[in-house]
Amino acid sequence: MTNNEKLRNWVNETAALCQPDNIHWCDGSQAENDALCDVLVDAGTFIRLNPAKRPGCFLAHSDPGDVARVEDRTFICTKDEDDVGPTNNWRDADEMKSVMTKFFDGSMKGRTMYVIPYSMGPLGSEISRIGVQISDSPYVVVNMRIMTRIGTAALAVLGKDGDFVPCLHSIGAPLDKGQKDAAWPCDPDNKYIVHFPDEPSIWSYGSGYGGNALLGKKCFSLRIASFMARQQGWLAEHMLILGITPPNGEKIYVAAAFPSACGKTNLAMMTPTIPGWKVETVGDDIAWMKFGADGRLYAINPESGFFGVAPGTSMESNPNAMFTLESNSIFTNVALTPDGDVWWEEMSEEPPEELTSWLGEAWTPASPKTAAHPNARYTTPAAQCPTIDADWEDPKGVPISAILFGGRRAAVVPLVHEALSWQHGTFIGSIASSEKTAAAAGKVGELRRDPMAMLPFCGYNMGDYFQHWLTIGGQTEPDKLPRIFYVNWFRKSADGSWLWPGYGENSRVLKWIYERVSGDGKAVETPIGYLPTPDAIDISGSDIPPKNMELLLSVNVQAWRQEVESIREHYRRFGDRLPAALSQELESLEERLQNG
Ligand code: OXD
Ligand code: MN
Repeated sequence: MTNNEKLRNWVNETAALCQPDNIHWCDGSQAENDALCDVLVDAGTFIRLNPAKRPGCFLAHSDPGDVARVEDRTFICTKDEDDVGPTNNWRDADEMKSVMTKFFDGSMKGRTMYVIPYSMGPLGSEISRIGVQISDSPYVVVNMRIMTRIGTAALAVLGKDGDFVPCLHSIGAPLDKGQKDAAWPCDPDNKYIVHFPDEPSIWSYGSGYGGNALLGKKCFSLRIASFMARQQGWLAEHMLILGITPPNGEKIYVAAAFPSACGKTNLAMMTPTIPGWKVETVGDDIAWMKFGADGRLYAINPESGFFGVAPGTSMESNPNAMFTLESNSIFTNVALTPDGDVWWEEMSEEPPEELTSWLGEAWTPASPKTAAHPNARYTTPAAQCPTIDADWEDPKGVPISAILFGGRRAAVVPLVHEALSWQHGTFIGSIASSEKTAAAAGKVGELRRDPMAMLPFCGYNMGDYFQHWLTIGGQTEPDKLPRIFYVNWFRKSADGSWLWPGYGENSRVLKWIYERVSGDGKAVETPIGYLPTPDAIDISGSDIPPKNMELLLSVNVQAWRQEVESIREHYRRFGDRLPAALSQELESLEERLQNG
């Protein structure tokens, strides 16, 4: 328990509203975790995996109506719609509060209400923040224990007078006396992921899955934190953080923003194919960045675990993730093997002959459906990652030398280009685009503009967010700012084959970025920014055909002129909240293309 009055009052009020049978204050201990896993196994939510194969691991299969983040059910609630902008679903804060209060009224009947104090970021770091999640889902507690630092230690940081973000969560499935519980209780027809940035607080109802339910992640660390960061002069971004060390050289740190399921985790844990180069992992999804006393931007990973997409992860694509997942991990919506292990698409070249699919059905390679859901996930402790950086929990954060934006684009966008300035970098971040993946509900493959990969995660008007980026760029000397790059690993040739091998070979691009930052990378200025000279990307020892490099590093002026039209349309959404500096950047791009 706590002597923090705000917290005690909130817990009492919430208990009165939600009417749980019991209240459990989470201490975060191993014993508590083990007991909750037993509860989940007894309830049929968890299957204990074979301890000889995956010690300390569990599998959950969700309700088929609760499998991904639901962006159309995600709301930012303020007084004034303009503060939320065109990329978010707005509701009036007071009205939504009364809607939510009705849903939460009695929503925890027959269940235990868990109080989960947690720290986003290393305990006690100046950059870290405290949240408290109340949830009626033990699955949420055991996932939060991996993803954040929960329990007594977080309460100690909060202290008597400390402040926290209240995060209220209910799966929305009250139980009558004697009613049999579902294995994955939820309310699939009434999901609400609601943010009140002015308070700030989070109310999430109806879903037990991922970012809908683990409220420290997208809800707090991105939507609410981005709002706080703007007020307080820092950045909360959808970015991985990694360290790059060349042979006999100094390490630099890089942050990179790609939309969901575009390979952030693979890049963060990559094994470079270039001999002697090393990549180490600080985070795979979120970066909080603040200026240090030396005027540089320092980043922490607010999370302590990885909530990664399982399908596609293999010893070929990401061996370090596979090693991380060997123990103490939770798998959701992957398939079960007959010997009590897990499998998902592309984990091995040959699928096992028989499996139980994520739907709980018998599955063979002839089955028409996938064995794992395309958005199946693992929850795994960051500390278990073989490439975890020695400074990943440094309370000061790590100094960032370069920021990468990117997305999946089969055409137009080259393998890598560098911004001409911070302002131009803000421009290229603001026009980032990607073909849609399965991480959110919706049509896969459709092109969408996803500025800074923050489209579903920016907690306020995105026009103001662009301005915040520009403002940050004016707060230190230009040479202290990270350099900004745009990468696209996903270019295809006319016949639909990949032009770039990706994965560990991306180290060749990181090498060029390292060289640019340290002053000796060769580049040519093009209408869209600096591109590597034809020989600047080191492809020695690889079997990447030089003709692919020509295509990967070309700027098709005609295609970019069409791109300008699409950017103009994208920008129109922001009306007068679009900073003039960005319209100017667009005009300058058009002029350069005209002359080019
Ligand atoms: C995630 C996402 O889970 O971006 O990281 O969807
Ligand atoms: Mn993400």
